[in-house]
Formats: sequence, structure tokens, C-alpha cells
Amino acid sequence: MIHTNEIKAPDCRQNASLSDNRFQTMAKDYDTLAPVMVPYYGFMQSMMMDYLRIEDADNPVIVDLGAGSGTFLERILLRNPSARCYYVDLSQPFMNVARQKLQRYHDRVKYILADLEDGWTDLLPVNADYIFSMSAIHHLENHEKQRLYHRCFDILNPGGWLVNIDEMKTIYPDAYFNSLYYWDRYGQAQGKRLHGEYLKAYWKWQDHFRQWKTRNIRNVNQPKRKGDDIHESFLLQMAWLKEIGFQQVDLFGKIHLWCIIGGKKPKQ
Ligand SMILES: C[S@@+](CC[C@H](N)C(=O)[O-])C[C@H]1O[C@@H](n2cnc3c(N)ncnc32)[C@H](O)[C@@H]1O
Repeated sequence: MIHTNEIKAPDCRQNASLSDNRFQTMAKDYDTLAPVMVPYYGFMQSMMMDYLRIEDADNPVIVDLGAGSGTFLERILLRNPSARCYYVDLSQPFMNVARQKLQRYHDRVKYILADLEDGWTDLLPVNADYIFSMSAIHHLENHEKQRLYHRCFDILNPGGWLVNIDEMKTIYPDAYFNSLYYWDRYGQAQGKRLHGEYLKAYWKWQDHFRQWKTRNIRNVNQPKRKGDDIHESFLLQMAWLKEIGFQQVDLFGKIHLWCIIGGKKPKQ
């Protein structure tokens, strides 16, 4: 089906063979599981919407980078009936799940199927007032993260905000390891509490959880490959934001592995 509110980047990796890419499969199960498997998932989103007083903004243009199944956008659209949103992600299956979830907002959301590393900004027809991202940017290599933050700065309107809620390293390696172990324990404990469709999705995700554990805990000191969880410290990422020119850069929250960082583009 052709959707008039969807733009595909010609060079998006979606168009290449990605049969082994975990972002191409099980999007629906991720949608079910993320709010229960990521500690305080909804809380982190709400806290930033409160902080930025999203509901008070007039006709804001909001971009979600690596928007997945559209959960964050759904909450933004509900809070601010004048918000116009842009969904950016490389995965068609995730986009399909988001499209269904956000059906009733179809006239307020545009979908951009593109890599965060590449020309998604060229496909954005307007500048943004807010750019959010959750659990996506850590998949980029460090130089790509920095380039992405630069691009965000360039396409923000003066006074606009970038917020990244993401898996990040902390200051000391032993504490970082603890944050990884914590997530493993948290996931197992949540698994014991789940029922019905949640439990089914949980069992289907066991393989992904095992792979996460191998990559991040067993092989914690091995070099990471592109697309892995390339955790970088919140301090270094905040320093990048500051260098780029963001103001009011801060760590707005930290829940073990998840850190919330961001900053504001100066008004002048
Ligand atoms: C862990 S999910 C998070 C989804 C959503 N932000 C959330 O918090 O529920 C990561 C998302 O980022 C997308 N993603 C990962 N790497 C990407 C890249 N390089 N370019 C565009 N999207 C990417 C995946 O397709 C997936 O939808």
C-alpha cells in the first residue's frame, strides 16, 4: 500500500538485505515488552515531557529518532493536540506497528524510513522544536553519534531541545558493569511476573535477551561492531553536546543503564 505520509530514503539500509538484522523482526513483541522490560520506561518519557512542558507548546514540530513502535510519539500526540510529529526509523516492520498504533493521529504524523547515520534531515521538510530519541542512538558508532548530534543542532529551531534517553556508560567501569547486571536481573524478575500476551512475547524474546547478555556482559571487554550496543559515557556525550553549542546541557535522570541527556539550541 502507498502511504502519502511516508518518505523513504533511497539509501536506507532497509532496502538492503537485512534478514539477520534484529530490528527487522519481532517489532510487535518489542512493542509489548519494552514498557515492562525497560526499567521505568514510561516514567522516563513522562518526566521529560513534564520538564519541557510539551503540552504548553504551540504547534510544535517534534521528531522521534529510532521511534520503533511509536510509543513515545503516541504519548506526545495525546498530550499536545497541536503537535506535528516526524517518525524516523530504518525498520519497516517497526514502522508498520507504529502506523497501526498511531492510526488515529494519521494527519499529524509523517514517517521517514531512513538511517540515523544518513540523510534523514534532507527528508525533513521543516525544522524541529523538539528532537527525542530513546534506546536507539547507542547503536551508532561514536563518530556517528557525534555527527547525529550535530545534525540535530542544525535542524532545531532556535530555542529547540534535543533529548536522548538511552543506554549509556556511567563514570566508573565497575558501576557500569553493575548497571548491566542490574538489567539482566530486572529482566528475569519481570519475566516471572508476566502473564498472557506479555509472557508469550517474553518467551519469543529469550533469544534476543541471551544475545544481549553475551554481547554486553560475557563479552563486555570485546570490541563492539556496528549495530551492537555501543555504550558511551553520559559525561562524554554531554561534552559533545556542549561543544556543538547546546546550552543547559544536563543529565536529567539516570536509571541504572538508562541516562537522559540533552540540551537546548540557543535562541540567537
Ligand atoms: C530498542 S528500539 C527502541 C524503539 C523506541 N525508541 C522505544 O524506545 O520504544 C531501537 C529502534 O531504533 C531503530 N534503529 C536502530 N538503529 C538505527 C539506525 N541506525 N537508524 C535508524 N533507526 C535505527 C530500530 O529499528 C528500532 O526501532
